Amino acid sequence: MTHSFNSLTQRLFVELTHCGHDITIEFDINDAVTMQAVELFQPELIIAPFLKRAIPETIWRKHTCFIVHPGIVGDRGPCALDWAIMNNTPEWGVTVLQANAEMDAGDIWAAETFPMRLTKKGGLYRHEVVEAAVKAVLTAVRRFETGKFKPQPLDYANPAARGRLHALIRQTDRSIDWQHDSAQTILKKINAADGFPGVLDTLYGEPYYLFDACIEEHLSGKPGEIIAKRNNAICRASVDGALWIGHVKRKNTAESTFKLSATLALKDHLADVPEISFNSFSTKPISTYRDIWFEQRNNVGYLHFPFYNGAMDTTQCQRLRVAYLQATQCNVRVIVLMGGSDFWCNGIHLNHIEHAQSPADESWCNINAMNDLVHAIITTNRQLTFAALQGNAGAGGVFLSLATDSVYARESVVLNPHYKSMGNLYGSEYWTYLLPKRVSKDHAESLAQNRLPISAQAACNMGLIDDCFALDQTDFKKKITQLAETLATDPNYPTLLQQKNQQRATDEQQKPLQSYRDEELRHMQLNFYGFDPSYHVARYHFAHKIPHGWTPLYLARHRRV
Ligand code: COA
Repeated sequence: MTHSFNSLTQRLFVELTHCGHDITIEFDINDAVTMQAVELFQPELIIAPFLKRAIPETIWRKHTCFIVHPGIVGDRGPCALDWAIMNNTPEWGVTVLQANAEMDAGDIWAAETFPMRLTKKGGLYRHEVVEAAVKAVLTAVRRFETGKFKPQPLDYANPAARGRLHALIRQTDRSIDWQHDSAQTILKKINAADGFPGVLDTLYGEPYYLFDACIEEHLSGKPGEIIAKRNNAICRASVDGALWIGHVKRKNTAESTFKLSATLALKDHLADVPEISFNSFSTKPISTYRDIWFEQRNNVGYLHFPFYNGAMDTTQCQRLRVAYLQATQCNVRVIVLMGGSDFWCNGIHLNHIEHAQSPADESWCNINAMNDLVHAIITTNRQLTFAALQGNAGAGGVFLSLATDSVYARESVVLNPHYKSMGNLYGSEYWTYLLPKRVSKDHAESLAQNRLPISAQAACNMGLIDDCFALDQTDFKKKITQLAETLATDPNYPTLLQQKNQQRATDEQQKPLQSYRDEELRHMQLNFYGFDPSYHVARYHFAHKIPHGWTPLYLARHRRV
């Protein structure tokens, strides 16, 4: 039972399914609908990984319900991670407790801790919290299965219960004083509110929520002033330096708004703000905003593109293609596409499309720019290429990774290799060429029809990706480096490169890449410009985060009868 099928819920879904449990999903819509779902499925156990309200009493009295709370033992209340970041807490955790009449005060089934890291709240959630939650939930489920385990009542006299009840965090707790706060303090405040709800602030006299901040090392100016812009971000001076802000959301009580890149949202004000470019191929390690950069070591090139939320708009696709082509001209034998640490890629940028004057035209431009990038990767004939999935990938992002010669994922990565849940979108990115090369017809069909997330291991088993290893990010990167460097020095390298080029030439002869692209785009044209508005409706709901009115049947198995 969950508010939405978010990354934690997806990961628990794939892990518990892997353990052989019979799982169905119900979104928390209202008490009556939840009770109906419980009646239909008659679960042995209910797990709530991500809820925004209490479970109805009629349910927790009759069924054991596990609440996954992103806090240490004893921590109670909303915004647990936000407070942990704001208070500079060195260690945090996840507790699995049993739902009862008091919020977050139920008996404890399992708990895990982790050291905190200086990063955005979303980053902590997608890595540390997800890993700790998986461990704690699996332990709690095993204990539940024994039928003998007695969960521990919360007892503040126990020194292990280090958490406390905390209040809701308000925007006044988060507010930035640009005339006094240091860049580090501002970064902490924005990190603690990323990606929801953001820090409410004022830009050019209008209220905006700020997201996606990073420290600038060299620029400075009058505190509070916007002193530079670069690609999607603006740079704002603090008393002791400056910070970049990548994304903002306009506060508007009259109509619904959504997150946009800062330069897009503020474009009418930025004409006179200097554009300070960044050389993606610079070897100088500096702290600044960069959404594409390249590193070269021992005949291997690493191209990083940690785009916010893994979404790639038209210009980001174009800039990444230019950088990629430049990488192919470097003296490297292997190119590794690193993506970002939170997401590898989630496909075209649905928020920027939604914001465009003609979303249909912008969808068309975005998918064509994405296809140009995929084409450049598929047709690379001077290097062997890797995709190194440090973080999750979804929709077009997964198919982008298949354009490389070898796809590797961190073990805890979750993939969504399908488009259909976005209003029956057909998809492009040459998937009709790339997918059948890797998986059987049956697997390809079930991936598209089921619309479910799969674990890296499951992707590996069906041949979608080549391998998965390491839970930890550092270990994953080490192993990727090792694999890439070994390949670059392999005496067999010239033969492997030649085989790849031969295979490409044969494939091209059998059916040109352009034909795959044309066929896919014919379907996409109907999605964008045809009579069926499903894609536009689904994208609107996605960007505006319209609450679910029902749980889709591909998740709610109990409702399929
Ligand atoms: N465009 C714009 N924003 C995107 C995005 C995209 N393609 N994919 C993800 N996001 C944003 C979400 O809106 C969310 O924004 P928030 O920071 O305001 O909360 C954030 O990324 C995290 O996404 P979330 O859904 O919470 O992450 P997840 O790991 O739980 O789920 C996906 C991942 C891929 C299943 C889900 O984000 C998704 O369905 N994305 C759309 C994929 C798609 O259809 N792409 C277009 C076709 S190629």
